[in-house]
Amino acid sequence: MNKTENQILVIFGASGDLTARKLVPALFNLYQANQLPDNFVVLGASRSDMTDSAFRNKVVLESTYLADKLKKLEKEDIKNFADKFFYEDLGGSYDTDYGRLRKRVEDLKNKYQTSGNIIYYLSTPPTLYETIAQNLADAGMSTQNNGWKRLIVEKPFGYSLETAKQLNSGLQQFFKEHQIYRIDHYLGKETVQNLLVTRFANSIFEPLWNRNYIHHVEITNAESVGVEKRGGYYDKSGALRDMFQNHLLQIVSLIVMEPPISDAPEDIRNEKVKALKSLRVMESDQELFDNTIRAQYTSSVIDGKQVKGYREEEGVDKDSTTETFAAIKFFVDNWRWKDTPFYVRTAKRMPTKATEVVIHFKTPHHQIFQDSGLDSKDNKLVIRIQPDEGILLKFGVKVPGQGFKVERANLDFYYSSLAETHVMDAYERLLLDAMQGDATLYARADEVEAAWEFVDPILKYWSSGKDVRMYGYAAGVWGPENSHELIEGIGEWRNPGPNLTDDPGFCVIC
Ligand code: BG6
Repeated sequence: MNKTENQILVIFGASGDLTARKLVPALFNLYQANQLPDNFVVLGASRSDMTDSAFRNKVVLESTYLADKLKKLEKEDIKNFADKFFYEDLGGSYDTDYGRLRKRVEDLKNKYQTSGNIIYYLSTPPTLYETIAQNLADAGMSTQNNGWKRLIVEKPFGYSLETAKQLNSGLQQFFKEHQIYRIDHYLGKETVQNLLVTRFANSIFEPLWNRNYIHHVEITNAESVGVEKRGGYYDKSGALRDMFQNHLLQIVSLIVMEPPISDAPEDIRNEKVKALKSLRVMESDQELFDNTIRAQYTSSVIDGKQVKGYREEEGVDKDSTTETFAAIKFFVDNWRWKDTPFYVRTAKRMPTKATEVVIHFKTPHHQIFQDSGLDSKDNKLVIRIQPDEGILLKFGVKVPGQGFKVERANLDFYYSSLAETHVMDAYERLLLDAMQGDATLYARADEVEAAWEFVDPILKYWSSGKDVRMYGYAAGVWGPENSHELIEGIGEWRNPGPNLTDDPGFCVIC
């Protein structure tokens, strides 16, 4: 395990929800696993007027997100953890002179011997990113002559290709690219990282991982919740910006990429960028019409409870044309993937919460078992990102008895079977990586822009009004009926159940 250098973590927007809900629990797990540096403090900074002790109460001692974990700890251990937290009120605005903040950081550094290493975590609206970066630079807090300085930013990284470019170049005026860590929490998920290992640590999959053996690739990201209290944000974003441009295209890049020459961050990120750049950008209205579907959930009754439609949600325009369902078919223009369709869909208010990648292999070119029904029983590799994390390989076996009737059997692996292993939460993993200067699982500027290059024309087409339809689907179903039309000639989407093996087909074991 790498040693983590002494440092200070400064969280901007520390009084917001993300700090208490995600960041502090992640730090707590690292504390319990003895992975925090020997000398380490957290300085929360935001516009609320709070003392150090009020901040500790809010994010640690009285936090509902930590309550269960704290119950299991000695008082002294809890105090040791809580004592690492401090707070600095920035006054009425983030756009202010950071001289006082700098002095506070210096004092903490001297008192707790944290050295000059600092991570700035921007847990604020993106509109403030450049302002904060500039004020840090103006106060001399971005220079690396006395310890490294890193800047972590949360998505969204821009609202379009143009704004993403502006944001990148805005930040790069004040921090060098290698100091900027763009967090995408999907990359912190073990199962997403396992895509790399499945492909590149085995010799059985990679020879088949191409257009010669793979018929199509399907990715589903389903959430059962609606927009909850985030209607205001979501209505300006939509499924394509909220999930597809970032999380799902990250997954796509890991499936599409060529083998990197090593596991060094830049080697992996270079291949991911190349993969994203090879997605065929849809240009004509006809292509965009044929290959994209958007929809909104409408009100319905789920488990006897009336559920609001998207347009009735708080913060959502009653005539909104923001999609809560997006399904995209696309191709990858390179040697490996030519003519292999990819189908990716994401939505809120579906029957269950599940994310999975399904690699559909081609049926054998020459079928000797004429009545086997093999066509509908293609080999599949299901990579389950969440929940019930694992991998499932579906292959044909003979049904006992006369003739050659073929059924599908399952070969599966579950993460939960690794009982002794602590699976790190995404934020825990990503924070630790940033603390150790490992940017492998963070998105680079060119990666983000390459993803926007692909998404931008779809968004422009959808907002153009030209022949674009907004379908409806009752909350709690698998999206609009016609979403199957996208998979023409192939069949239907595979609708995942809450468990990895959700189709109780033939079982070899019993
Ligand atoms: C976030 C989106 O990035 O990811 C949310 O803004 C979404 O709308 C969430 O609910 C899903 O994350 P997970 O880890 O629960 O799949």
